[in-house]
Amino acid sequence: MSDSVTFRVHRFKQGDAASHHDSFEFEPGPRSTVLDALTAIRRTQDPTLTLRHSCFHASCGTCGMKVNGREVLACVTNVRELGTGEVTVDPLDNAPLVSDLVVDMGPFFARLNAVERPLVRESELVPGAHTASGIPQPLRYEDCIECGICISACPIAATDPEYLGPAALAAADRVREEPRGGDVPFVLGLADDPHGAWRCHVAFECSEACPSNVDPAGHIMQLRRSLIGRRWRALLAQPVEAGR
Ligand code: SF4
Ligand code: FES
Repeated sequence: MSDSVTFRVHRFKQGDAASHHDSFEFEPGPRSTVLDALTAIRRTQDPTLTLRHSCFHASCGTCGMKVNGREVLACVTNVRELGTGEVTVDPLDNAPLVSDLVVDMGPFFARLNAVERPLVRESELVPGAHTASGIPQPLRYEDCIECGICISACPIAATDPEYLGPAALAAADRVREEPRGGDVPFVLGLADDPHGAWRCHVAFECSEACPSNVDPAGHIMQLRRSLIGRRWRALLAQPVEAGR
């Protein structure tokens, strides 16, 4: 019996009328990951296959994709443990498609930038540490690895292109918890919006899919509680009109 696994890989190049899947055979070892398979396919079978990756160990967040319909990091998804002789690989949803398995992460990063996402936790800052040249301060170093998996898994992001999204709302909640110089009223104002924390339908798909235990849905619930308190405080601070 052959140990070969068939990979059905999403294909699309700019100018194509529609996308399709190409099939490739790959014989995985006991520790082969989906990313190992895709890089081997590109190296030995089709050099035009495009995908994003960098670290190979679940820290850079670049290899997010859908494997057999579920959002995962390809670099830590063991092929044998999928338990199927056929593995279907697709790009993340809810992001503009660029090519094959590559989506444009620009809109996702723009949402994170808008909420002034937190940097290194204060407790993790090393006194006197220097950043690499040209980098004014440490960036993108909390639990969120900015993989975009949560926004792909989110049913609301699929219907509301203006939705701030799970990762950005989780980041907004972290600014509330630990501002580190962030403009908390501004960030909470962004979250307190019909396309912000209130748009979430509490599906918890984002927390289920997140590979870094950020629990975006839990943060959105905390954010909502905080926003309700903020509204009450604003209401109670209003002067009582004479005659009422
Ligand atoms: S919250 Fe989780 S799933 Fe979303 S971008 Fe960050 S690490 Fe990825
Ligand atoms: S290659 Fe970096 S997270 Fe997968």
